[in-house]
Amino acid sequence: MTLFTALAMAHPNIALIKYWGDRDAHLHLPVSGSISFNLDGLATRTLITFDPQLHADALSINAAPADEKSLKRMSAFLDVVRRWSGSVVFASVVSETNFPLGSGVASSASAFAALAMAAAHALNLNLSDQELSRLARHGSGSACRSIPGGFVEWKCGQSDEDSYAETIAPPDHWQLADVTAIVSSEQKAISSAEGHQIAASSPLQAARVADANRRLDICRSAILERDFDKLATITELDSNLMHAVMMTSTPALFYWRPETLAIMKAVAAWRQSGLPVCYTVDAGPNVHVICLAQVESEVTARLSTIPGVSKTLCAHPGAGASFVK
Ligand code: PMV
Repeated sequence: MTLFTALAMAHPNIALIKYWGDRDAHLHLPVSGSISFNLDGLATRTLITFDPQLHADALSINAAPADEKSLKRMSAFLDVVRRWSGSVVFASVVSETNFPLGSGVASSASAFAALAMAAAHALNLNLSDQELSRLARHGSGSACRSIPGGFVEWKCGQSDEDSYAETIAPPDHWQLADVTAIVSSEQKAISSAEGHQIAASSPLQAARVADANRRLDICRSAILERDFDKLATITELDSNLMHAVMMTSTPALFYWRPETLAIMKAVAAWRQSGLPVCYTVDAGPNVHVICLAQVESEVTARLSTIPGVSKTLCAHPGAGASFVK
């Protein structure tokens, strides 16, 4: 009996220009492009074994069997892999993440990027990087940005075929740090998958989308020119715009807590006084504080004194997903 097995690794990523809202919820085709960088040091490692003796897919996450919802989501993704490969074999998946789940670092991005990479290698699919990014997108939109390395842009594209992410600059292009200030580790009540579907119910979403290419251009050039002030202004605007849409959709989504806003205000004041720092917040209350790496210890120390910050996680621009063996 032949087992097809592979181990792969991927980093999560933090978006500077966010993905919020789908044109096609099933295919995870976004309404606008997004830009992110991968987070070195934080990683998901995934071992997949396609085994003809299995009668269903199986998933363990951090040494415990996964809940029903996660298993269903993974199985739906493996159905895409099986369609692409012509295989009908079920798989057992063992996934390990070295950062706390629910910590405000998007684990679905690294999870589906590692899974796409592992599954494609196990079944000898011979996919190009673009095809791997497209495949990962089927699991979670932002996962397509964890396939290429460094600073990455996901061009929204028109269809399944042309919606994938590519590197715009390698990891060592710019010594940035992302210091995540954790204020809560609770699982969010409304997942981003559900959020994307109601984004269009906000009357602000059309304006946010209409202005997206302008923000993408500014962010891309700020990265290429290593212009921190330019990056800071556009990153904070984009995060605030996404949260304005969240707060005005039906139902309204309020991800911020009082501590979230306190950190955002502190970060803005630090920048005013000359520290190269800015904030961005995903679909949760924790704050990603982006800064030049040379001030990351100072930023970490300052964040740790803010009431309600239980811990900080620090990461730098990282490589793309990789096949381990
Ligand atoms: O890939 P998803 O469905 O988990 O969506 C990611 C949504 C945000 O993290 C809020 C923004 C982004 O672009 O990463």
